[in-house]
Amino acid sequence: MDKFFIEGGTKLNGDVVIPTAKNALLPILACSIMCDGVVEIEKCTTYTDVEYMIKILEELGAECEIIDDTLIINSSLADKYAIPEEYTKRIRSSIFMLGPLVSRFGRAKVAYPGGCNIGARPIDLHIKGLESLGVKIVERHGYIYCNADNLSAGQVHLDFPSVGATENIMMAAVLAKGTTTIYNAAKEPEIEDLQNFINAMGGKVSGAGTSTIVIEGVSRLHSVKYKPISDRIIAGTYLISCAAAGGKVTLLDTNHSFNTALISKLRQSGCKIKLNNDKITIEVGCRLRSISKIETLPYPGFPTDLQSQMLTLQTLCRGNSMIIENLFETRFKIYTELKKMGADILVKDRMAIVSGVKRLFGASVTAPDLRSGAGLVIAGICAEGYTTINDVYHIDRGYLHIENDLNNLGARITRVKE
Ligand code: UD1
Repeated sequence: MDKFFIEGGTKLNGDVVIPTAKNALLPILACSIMCDGVVEIEKCTTYTDVEYMIKILEELGAECEIIDDTLIINSSLADKYAIPEEYTKRIRSSIFMLGPLVSRFGRAKVAYPGGCNIGARPIDLHIKGLESLGVKIVERHGYIYCNADNLSAGQVHLDFPSVGATENIMMAAVLAKGTTTIYNAAKEPEIEDLQNFINAMGGKVSGAGTSTIVIEGVSRLHSVKYKPISDRIIAGTYLISCAAAGGKVTLLDTNHSFNTALISKLRQSGCKIKLNNDKITIEVGCRLRSISKIETLPYPGFPTDLQSQMLTLQTLCRGNSMIIENLFETRFKIYTELKKMGADILVKDRMAIVSGVKRLFGASVTAPDLRSGAGLVIAGICAEGYTTINDVYHIDRGYLHIENDLNNLGARITRVKE
């Protein structure tokens, strides 16, 4: 298990290119099993979660090859519909395979998913949604068995706008006869990207990005070449990194409209931010002001995936901040690690109260999950002295060599292989 060794106290300056989004790639890869021809994914970033999804496709019989940075998937010979636990325990997004598998094979057998340890993460909305399309589901011995002999279009009302459930149901409906409507759908940009991908293969989906998505069933999906959207969480992480460390950073190949909630909070704190087509420039020259209240919400609200990084920033701002986590019940695990570095944070249930301190100090800390790990990297860059971050594998799930990007901006992070 790799570690990061960080020498703190550097400002960040320069340009950084934002890669394609993990959370767009994962459902797109799952969906590719439904394609009759060849899917080519351009600029496919091989985060470890993406590598696991590729392994799942191969386990199902698809042929996958990466040439330069294009992933080529030929699912025409895929002939299996079971995903064993050794894959699903590593990646929660394996649950996305239910929709594509029932669509392609009329059957699915998927072991219960794993993924980041950030709360209970039930899958009831996925199950209820698929049942609304006529899928018969039984759960036995840790496996979910689906039979879709009677797969048909339907009306699905989600009790909560779950990202994964919206995507799963969309994919299940693409090849089902008739018109399916999903009400109270999640509105994340990655869902619109999945719609665009499906439509580029000949599907008929509309409304993604709003709370009502309409899917008209088609009989087949054809070959496609597609470039997914850029990663708004990595973009946000680098903006917060510069906000915390100071300096001037320009993000390239990004879409600022995906990060309006964060940009508005950073501007309120005192950051200078310029938006320009696919670029964002942030400049920070002094200690920032705390944001009195930050509350995570489904898109376009403040993203839960940037909460740990923002919590880290608040530990260094002038004033007090209250952070409320509405999406995942145990997503404040970073706070015990930040306290080792001198942060002043109180956590009660889903609320954290942060009193800004003038500086953090290097310590040996452990990444409890993916985004908390990114928050600790930011803390390490800003801290006085040396920080060691253990369990870096969490961070690698959603950042491809975060240390290279940040070192190019002036950070001093060394990966120690164990
Ligand atoms: C996706 C993202 C993840 C992000 C999250 C919220 C991917 C691969 N992952 O995860 O990075 O943190 O959206 O923006 O895109 N819920 C239920 N029942 C269900 C499904 C969800 O109660 O069947 C609840 C969850 O426990 C959670 C909330 O809904 O409280 C949001 O979860 P969801 O939107 O489904 O997140 P994911 O799709 O797992």
